[in-house]
Amino acid sequence: MCLRDERVLLGVSGGIAAYKAAELVRRLRDAGAQVRVVMTDGAKRFITPLTLQALSGNPVRDSLWDEGAEAAMGHIELARWATRVLVAPATADTLARLAHGHADDLLSTLVLATAAPVAVAPAMNQQMWAHPATQANVALLRGRGVQVFGPGAGDQACGEVGPGRLLEPDELVSALASQVRASAMLAGVRVLITAGPTFEDIDPVRFIGNRSSGKMGFAVAAAAAAMGAEVSLIAGPVALPTPVGVARINVRSAAQMLAAVMDALPGQDIYIGAAAVADYTPACVADKKIKKTAADMAVALDRTTDILATVTAATPRPFVVGFAAETHDLEHYARDKLQRKGLDLIAANQVGCAGGGFEADCNTLQVFWADGERTLGPDSKAVVAQQLLALVAERRAMANA
Ligand code: C5P
Repeated sequence: MCLRDERVLLGVSGGIAAYKAAELVRRLRDAGAQVRVVMTDGAKRFITPLTLQALSGNPVRDSLWDEGAEAAMGHIELARWATRVLVAPATADTLARLAHGHADDLLSTLVLATAAPVAVAPAMNQQMWAHPATQANVALLRGRGVQVFGPGAGDQACGEVGPGRLLEPDELVSALASQVRASAMLAGVRVLITAGPTFEDIDPVRFIGNRSSGKMGFAVAAAAAAMGAEVSLIAGPVALPTPVGVARINVRSAAQMLAAVMDALPGQDIYIGAAAVADYTPACVADKKIKKTAADMAVALDRTTDILATVTAATPRPFVVGFAAETHDLEHYARDKLQRKGLDLIAANQVGCAGGGFEADCNTLQVFWADGERTLGPDSKAVVAQQLLALVAERRAMANA
């Protein structure tokens, strides 16, 4: 586990797990990192700044308004100094404040001011962790590329049992070390990703759509950016925030998505088609709202152009990854698509069953290539996305070897 070239800004917020920050600082330094600690007011009720100062070998900061400390290293310099920010433990309140961009204490201000990757390690009572407000805040942070380490499950200080325990210091150090390894994996690589559904208009008020939420494709875009890639994301109509460092182009229909893809394609190294593109589109779009006068009606549909197949037919072509959402016979249909569309890799997921699919935050992917397969997850779409990209980097390196 190597953090030799890393300067870790450790944010400690106020929960009982703050006592583990002492051990965490030691482990981070054992792994070779330089460590500077920032504490919230709440954290100082659980562990003293003196302890963390002695262990980190650097003064501990706890205020935006400390003139002496600001004269030595201002908060903006501190934000620039960090190559990684880790908030551990991250309480429910700290997660909420970070998710909503507060800047009224030193830690929240540093998280806004830094360009370094940010990771949070939540720790709280299991009910607080399960609360929809906390889950929504975590989803917001994830969507912006913040990595979430844990929480673990088990006995809690409050006497309850469940998810909400801070990961152990060793686990946090190894999570940070894998983040460091991953961040170089796609350095300088250009990745083009499609995500979300497409909407095919029938008339000015109606359309044919599908249940894709875009969450998987957006998670792939966030993970690719975190791994050092230059990411372009062509998004169908979804209301998800754009991940940090990702260039986004919004489209509505399959035809618009095809045009945007072909426009962005030259010079791309990897193409990942995570969008659920409509297979059929109304043959003509009524220019006025269709009235319900007849007892029944039929809408004539034309086939759309297959974007993936068009991309694989291009020369030069990027490394191409397709997705397959299937309700049954997953491997059979996925392998058929892999071959028929000339893909390098296909990521298949079972929809219409519990534990994954369109609107869920978790997913399991079965990934197939010509002479192999691997199962990723079940885990959060963020973690599955990182695993998928690590596999893409590995397979692409083999293909180029
Ligand atoms: O054949 P099927 O639509 O199930 O294949 C799914 C894969 O094909 C996805 O990667 C999707 O983005 C892509 N696709 C496409 N253009 C279409 C239809 C699907 O790129 N018109």
